[in-house]
Amino acid sequence: MSSITVSVYTDDRDECAQWCAALGRALGAGYRIVAGTDAAARYAVAWGPPETFFAAQPALHAVFSMAAGVDHLLRVATLPAGLPVYRLEDAGMAAQMVRYCRHEVEHVLLDRATYEAQQRRKVWQQHPVREPGELQVGLFGYGVLGGRVAQALHDEGYAVRAFRRAARGDSSGPIAEYAGSGQWPAFLQGLQVLILLAPLTEDTRGIIDGVAIDAMARGAWLVNVGRGALIDETAVLAALTDGRLAGASFDVFATEPLPANHPFWSMPQVRMTPHVAAVTRIGPSAHQIADRIRAIENGDPAGRAVDRASGY
Ligand code: GLV
Repeated sequence: MSSITVSVYTDDRDECAQWCAALGRALGAGYRIVAGTDAAARYAVAWGPPETFFAAQPALHAVFSMAAGVDHLLRVATLPAGLPVYRLEDAGMAAQMVRYCRHEVEHVLLDRATYEAQQRRKVWQQHPVREPGELQVGLFGYGVLGGRVAQALHDEGYAVRAFRRAARGDSSGPIAEYAGSGQWPAFLQGLQVLILLAPLTEDTRGIIDGVAIDAMARGAWLVNVGRGALIDETAVLAALTDGRLAGASFDVFATEPLPANHPFWSMPQVRMTPHVAAVTRIGPSAHQIADRIRAIENGDPAGRAVDRASGY
């Protein structure tokens, strides 16, 4: 029996080699793993492929994202219309995302930005201690990762609410759910921390604008661990400057790496990390993808493919 070809693309050569090795181990005999493109490839595993990627591989049955997000695939104009796209679901990312978001929310709860500013000015001034239940925390993006973050924060006693695009049949869980654009203003109303973990789609691009910020509590904190372009940067910069936002934690940016002349670099009220909140774990991810490829080969369901219309 001839082997099944799986092609792997990322522009980082070392990472590409690690993916090839991990997929080779996870898929075993009967599969041929190649770096780059291959005309015979039946499956592709990719991050940010170029326009030529799909044209060079006309026999593809499915493409797998090396990440939770698929915007880097859906924006490729040559992606064939009917080709199923799969994204990573958790695969070791949820625990990292929970740790990152919990850390940033605790930073707000404990007034650490205020104390850091006081330290710079040698000011000794105590502020009232707040309990988690006094902090209104919102999750925009309530999928696999957002759900885990919301649950972890709820378990710690924070007043958590979450926004989803469409209502679920059962929304009777302990976390207050808001669904659909009609409930967007009510979701934002009075939020003290807003965590962005939504996919970047035509509906979500720039969604955190001046109107959204004004609906939140004055002096709220923004945590963006989704995609940089979810925020309207001009509006967010203005709000960070005039105090409508007390500060922000950014892991993702509209342009990455963040250009050296970007104002975020030097704003003391901005905490930054270089897109590391939840890094793909190649081992567990390769296993998840291998399981799905085998399921497709066996004619079994391979999990939920991305819905192109909604963009995730
Ligand atoms: C990272 O940004 C991801 O989409 O997993």
